[in-house]
Amino acid sequence: MKRHRHPPEPFRIKSVEPISLLPHESREKILKRAKFNIFKVKAEEIYIDLLTDSGTGAMSNEQWAALMRGDESYAGARSFYRFEEIIKDITGKRFVIPCHQGRVAENAFFSTILKRGDIIPNNTHFDTTGANVIHKGGIPVDLPCAESARDDELPFKGNIDTVRFEELITQKGADKIPAVFMTVTNNSAGGQPVSMRNIMETSEICRRHGIMFCFDCARFAENAYFIKKNEPGFENKSILDIAREMFSFADGALMSAKKDGLANMGGFIVLDDQELAEKIIQLLIVIEGFPTYGGMSGRDMEAVAAGLKEVMNEPYLEYRIGQVKYFGQILEEAGARIIKPTGGHAIFIDAGKYLPHIPPHEFPGQSLTVEFYRQGGIRAVEIGSLMFGRLDPATGEFVAAPREMVRLAVPRRVYTASHLDYVAEIVAKITAEKDELAGYKIIHEAKLLRHFTVELKEITPKKIEVG
Ligand code: F0G
Repeated sequence: MKRHRHPPEPFRIKSVEPISLLPHESREKILKRAKFNIFKVKAEEIYIDLLTDSGTGAMSNEQWAALMRGDESYAGARSFYRFEEIIKDITGKRFVIPCHQGRVAENAFFSTILKRGDIIPNNTHFDTTGANVIHKGGIPVDLPCAESARDDELPFKGNIDTVRFEELITQKGADKIPAVFMTVTNNSAGGQPVSMRNIMETSEICRRHGIMFCFDCARFAENAYFIKKNEPGFENKSILDIAREMFSFADGALMSAKKDGLANMGGFIVLDDQELAEKIIQLLIVIEGFPTYGGMSGRDMEAVAAGLKEVMNEPYLEYRIGQVKYFGQILEEAGARIIKPTGGHAIFIDAGKYLPHIPPHEFPGQSLTVEFYRQGGIRAVEIGSLMFGRLDPATGEFVAAPREMVRLAVPRRVYTASHLDYVAEIVAKITAEKDELAGYKIIHEAKLLRHFTVELKEITPKKIEVG
């Protein structure tokens, strides 16, 4: 197979952060101490950390310089106006409400719009988004397009299923659906992009039924880049123009700026509806901060303002998306079964297919996640039945997640090709012994978002049991 050659990093390295690999025996002890939950492993115990691309990126010299411009005034800080200006320029919305991260935006938004029993459709809810909907009495419904479950390489597998969306409206009534969300890129469904056409169609359905249409736009620039590359008619448009067009179809958006804001912290809500904006601002004053800082320091807002400009730079996106594509190819060559085409921010290994001997209720994705740490000091995250599986309240039976995935997220501007080559070498090692990997059993769990704190036990490998 011809390897995808991505352009070299369009930056050079000015500051470095040492990392090291602990000996094998220490990693084994750490796994036991962490009860096989990778969230409980200390960062300094990790060699290559691919847990998330959220807040883990490297800032540019411009962003570090911008921090010094941070205006820390309680009200009316200059930094807020710079933050507001760039966000209005991209989204075209009238109200910019800062929040310190995405889930606060979710909490404030859903607290304000939801009545008990309301439904929120989404192409696929991110875990905190779904959890916030439930927490405020709503029902999150995922409507990924049919292509998202297929193995062939289609360009916009992040799309929402507009046919099922209309059916849902007919069944439940538009008054039960205060808003629909479109997550760009579709993180929990493989980081796959959404096409402009799908955005337009969804927006048209919403207008017809009087439903609010919102983006969860944590990775809007990566999505815009895929539209430019793969959707006819967009090849000569700038990323900024494509992003503006995307937002022109929506009534509002929530953003975790820890991804395409290229910052370590930050987020916002944008809206056109003044009444709704005012309600959300009132709530945020109680729980998050005055509306010109909303839980962020002035320097955080400066970093986001600078990051939002840099993220739309095309050579950066070409390198970024190219690096993820290269990573997918070398992992495949090492024997992993991955979701294809590769998306914007991560590689998703299909652990269900890679480890077919481990059933969903024994968490094949977690087994692989543990093995990544055991073999290579690498941190990945399970996105399968440990994260999304549940017991049916009526029957008590285990309901598996739609797919058993392991995500290897690539932090922005942090790791080089040799780090990724190392990860592929570990995958090759795991592939050679994969039939011997064991499943896991839960020994302690929380009610909501259990994967963060869950405690697990390794189920004795079958081979040893028989022997
Ligand atoms: N929406 C999407 C699509 C996300 O990916 C995330 C976070 C959030 C909302 C919540 O934002 O973390 O700032 O509160 N995703 C991270 C991840 C944590 O690893 O994918 P937050």
